[in-house]
Amino acid sequence: MAETGALPRETTPGGADGSGPPRRSGILASLNRWLGRRHLATATALLVSAAVVAAVSLHVLLSVLGLYPVGPDVLFGAALITILIATPVVLYAQLIIRELVRSRQALRRMTDELAWALHKAEEGNRAKSTFLAAMSHELRTPLNAIIGFSDVMAGQRLGPLEDPRYRGYAADINASGTHLLEIINDILDIAKIESGQAVIEDDDTMPIAEVVEASMTIVEPMAVQAGVSLQALLPAVAVRLTGVERMIRQILINILSNAVKFTAAGGSVVLDVVPRYNGWLLVTVTDTGIGMSEDETRIALTPFGQIDGPLNRRHGGTGLGLPLARSMMELHGGHLTIVSAPGQGTTVELRFPPNRVSFERVSFDRANGPAEEAGAAVEPRRA
Ligand SMILES: Nc1ncnc2c1ncn2[C@@H]1O[C@H](COP(=O)(O)OP(=O)(O)OP(=O)(O)O)[C@@H](O)[C@H]1O
Ligand SMILES: [Mg+2]
Repeated sequence: MAETGALPRETTPGGADGSGPPRRSGILASLNRWLGRRHLATATALLVSAAVVAAVSLHVLLSVLGLYPVGPDVLFGAALITILIATPVVLYAQLIIRELVRSRQALRRMTDELAWALHKAEEGNRAKSTFLAAMSHELRTPLNAIIGFSDVMAGQRLGPLEDPRYRGYAADINASGTHLLEIINDILDIAKIESGQAVIEDDDTMPIAEVVEASMTIVEPMAVQAGVSLQALLPAVAVRLTGVERMIRQILINILSNAVKFTAAGGSVVLDVVPRYNGWLLVTVTDTGIGMSEDETRIALTPFGQIDGPLNRRHGGTGLGLPLARSMMELHGGHLTIVSAPGQGTTVELRFPPNRVSFERVSFDRANGPAEEAGAAVEPRRA
């Protein structure tokens, strides 16, 4: 097919390789194709002639059988009536059929073009992600040397540095190198997940309470410094999550630290773990901060996307935390959604699928109420 010549083989419908829709066979289909190649008037003349021959033959047959006496005037009349009726009918039918064929071809051409565009876009995205993954990998090696040697110098492990400014410079180099490495690791993680190279191999099953506790411990000092209250609510049953612990912890830290970062002093941040009746696990992080509009939410979810505001400028950051958290959630088969409005605060919803969620059995003691065999928290509590 000429119009699909530029397409890769696997996306060429109807090609000679038989990958497209099958060609119809049979006498009618062949006749249709043969007529389709003729000019409209010629095809009409041929079909009407065939109809006339058929009508005349029928009359002759009836006459031979003695059922219906036929003279030349009757045959002439039958031929004339057939021509008068068949010509507009055949012409109209042909016009409709040709229009249908044209629409089908246009539709197929559009489908091919769309498939081609999609193929190119996916190829471009994969190439970008592979390039990013390769670059990040190359950058990490020299950065590790910078971080390691500056650490040795700042700690004066091989002997004293005379001028204290040198020690300060070494510490600054170390801090900047570590910060850069964190960014590169984030980029590498996003690139790997987006290019489909990341798979969950070494997943463990962990109590959600422990991951929440670990994440809260890291974000707590930030919250104290910002004057924002931080609280975690856990369900009465012990919930276990199956996944990569490092990633689940990072998802929670990224979301919690955003909530604290974009909430002014006096505000609050609440993390709530809610098992759903359909087996999914919902974890929400709700803040009373500056909030975002729908457009801003879209920007926030793209890599390096940041919304320009006074709190943003004060805190810096690279704009990778949210997209990375979303990619990691999707890698676990889950979803990350944001419900927010300017000035109304933000709720980030994390949904983990049933195959990654399990509940520990709760035994019931008549005297003391429900108690968990594993001994984890049974009441909603402050973490
Ligand atoms: N809870 C929130 N409330 C209001 N705005 C938010 C919230 N979370 C994220 N944002 C907006 O989305 C942007 C992107 O967030 P993201 O976590 O990706 O990057 P960041 O926090 O700026 O930098 P970092 O890479 O250090 O996380 C933020 O800069 C901020 O503008
Ligand atoms: Mg962030």
